[in-house]
Amino acid sequence: MKAELLYEGKAKKVYRSASNSEQLILSYKNDATAFNGKKKASFTGKGRLNNEISSLIFPYLHERGIRTHFLERLNDTEQLVWATEIIPLEVVVRNVATGSITKRLGFKERTPFEPALVELFYKNDALDDPLINDDHALLLTDSTAKELRELKVMALEINTVLRELFQSINLALVDFKLEFGRLPDGSIVLSDEISPDTCRLWDMVTEEKMDKDVFRQDIGDLISVYEQILQRLEARL
Ligand code: TMP
Ligand code: ASP
Repeated sequence: MKAELLYEGKAKKVYRSASNSEQLILSYKNDATAFNGKKKASFTGKGRLNNEISSLIFPYLHERGIRTHFLERLNDTEQLVWATEIIPLEVVVRNVATGSITKRLGFKERTPFEPALVELFYKNDALDDPLINDDHALLLTDSTAKELRELKVMALEINTVLRELFQSINLALVDFKLEFGRLPDGSIVLSDEISPDTCRLWDMVTEEKMDKDVFRQDIGDLISVYEQILQRLEARL
């Protein structure tokens, strides 16, 4: 049961759980935005697909030793999670150069990053989520240097687990974005979502893009692509 709406983001609404004040209900929306909200659309079924996909991935990570906020999927579009205080960072892991890093630093498209590259962005819509360094992150968040190191180690561990998972369903995990939150006891857990909205996934056979770039670049039917991801994950897990 949902209680009051705490926050509405671009892709999800966050409610307090009526039965436990330490828990939240995430409600996935059909809205899609790109380029920091400058491009907008709505896709019937996207909320359900991302909820289902994220609800398969989070327990998979949990089973492999990654601490997360996830408790359970409640219905088509909602999931129950522990309430965390979100650390205002977008932690991006890149295995292959594409997207903003090619424009920002001139890496040639498809340059492999080995080891994977971790970047921090300041989660702040008014500033367009700028790239920041660790010293900025220390000033802009309540994290310590040790915690920032921990976040990056966790991000790379998650990369290792997810790369293997996606590879087993013929998808190359190109890059993805993570968010972390703090539980009442101060410990840091993986929060937010992992879905084709927040990852780049390339089909290993056809090289087709199977993620939100379909919408960003208008190159196909987003729902059938997300449906494919869910079907492959369901067949594997
Ligand atoms: P970028 O190449 O635009 O920096 O994106 C890197 C990855 O992070 C890509 O998988 C998409 C994801 N991402 C988000 O989930 N949310 C965002 O706001 C941005 C900018 C990127
Ligand atoms: N910039 C994000 C993206 O392209 C979405 C958004 O912020 O509207 O993934």
